[in-house]
Amino acid sequence: MNKYDAIIIGGGVNGCSIAYYLARDGKSVLLLEREKLAGKASSAAAGMLGAQVEVTREGALFDIAKESRAMFPSLQYELKEHSGIDMELVQKGMLKLAMNEEEARHLKSTIAFQQKLGERAEWLAPEQVAEREGQLSDALLGAMDIPMDGHVNPERLTHAFAKSAINLGAEVKEYVDVYSLVMDKCSVRGVETSNGTFHGENVVIAAGAWSKRLLGECGVTVPAYPVKGECFSVITDRPLLASTIFTESCYLVPKSGNRLVIGATMVPDTFSENVTVGGIYQLMEEVARVLPSVKYATFERFWSGIRPQTGDGLPYLGHHPKYKNLVIATGHYRNGILLSPITGKLVTKMIQGDPMPNYMEAFKLDRLKEYAGGE
Ligand code: FAD
Ligand code: GLY
Repeated sequence: MNKYDAIIIGGGVNGCSIAYYLARDGKSVLLLEREKLAGKASSAAAGMLGAQVEVTREGALFDIAKESRAMFPSLQYELKEHSGIDMELVQKGMLKLAMNEEEARHLKSTIAFQQKLGERAEWLAPEQVAEREGQLSDALLGAMDIPMDGHVNPERLTHAFAKSAINLGAEVKEYVDVYSLVMDKCSVRGVETSNGTFHGENVVIAAGAWSKRLLGECGVTVPAYPVKGECFSVITDRPLLASTIFTESCYLVPKSGNRLVIGATMVPDTFSENVTVGGIYQLMEEVARVLPSVKYATFERFWSGIRPQTGDGLPYLGHHPKYKNLVIATGHYRNGILLSPITGKLVTKMIQGDPMPNYMEAFKLDRLKEYAGGE
């Protein structure tokens, strides 16, 4: 019977990235996805690489976010070469707007801590913002200029990882539901699926917001919950924005073809992917406040996705405390696209038994006092 070096559960951006990095290092890999690849959060995402716009505190998350962002420029060529797929990396920076005094104060302190850590970030006065982006509302009080944050096409990125992995020898099976883990006393031997049993030296749970059930099976209870995000897109006659615009309540990401992706709501504790009138209405109001001329844009489509959130907002990245060949890679919440390259790289190191960076302590499964299990 075939025994893989690693079985990965979940064909989102993180599962596919892990498959790619493992296959690139010569490991035999089986990735199982119960629907189609990139069918969940990884295609709903706006694709922002918002290391500085989204992470506003010093710490391990900021460290891996910056490290992962820095991987994209070379990764785009690497994956294009292996897969023929262009992830559509755009590096035109972001502006995070202050719409009131409190937001301005908060942004200025974020700029100070990021500059202290050697990152590029600057405060722009309203006139400077208007010079850069002439269509924005004149009600804003200034903005944080973040030249290094960019964006990609998240669905293309996921497929680029998957196809590259396949071309390097990985097996990827869609429409295979993993029902349960096959466990011994101290290790996992494989998985039971809708397509039979598969055996692996290592098993990786990368099932996004759906990981909790599988974790429960191996005796682990950790805080983890879904947060739905609804988005919509519009097409404009001419480009309205050069950079991505981010506020506390919405963001606008300019994509090719004069398309603006506008997001996103935050609806906790639901796995329902319905898009509500209330959600889209709220976003439309917010976005019109920031970019009044969006009212003349042509509505294109709306969609939603389920973000995987954890108790303290940090992903779970590490070996199971008891089952030593079981690796968990989930809880990437609002930043799973940004964090996908570093996730693939770190999980590959874990499986190979390589020394891990110190910051990995912050992502261990048993870091939280609510943690139960593993004994
Ligand atoms: P998913 O993409 O959810 O993939 C998990 C996969 O596992 C699914 O395909 C599922 O079908 C499969 N699965 C589950 N259970 C099983 C099972 N038992 N057997 C087999 N397969 C299983 N992040 C950013 O970095 N930048 C952004 O701009 C951004 N914008 C976002 C906007 C929205 C509206 C949303 C919802 C999210 C956004 N995110 C963004 C977050 C990002 O999308 C997620 O963090 C990321 O996609 C999570 O990827 P994943 O691979 O862990 O999970
Ligand atoms: N990172 C954007 C979102 O999750 O909506």
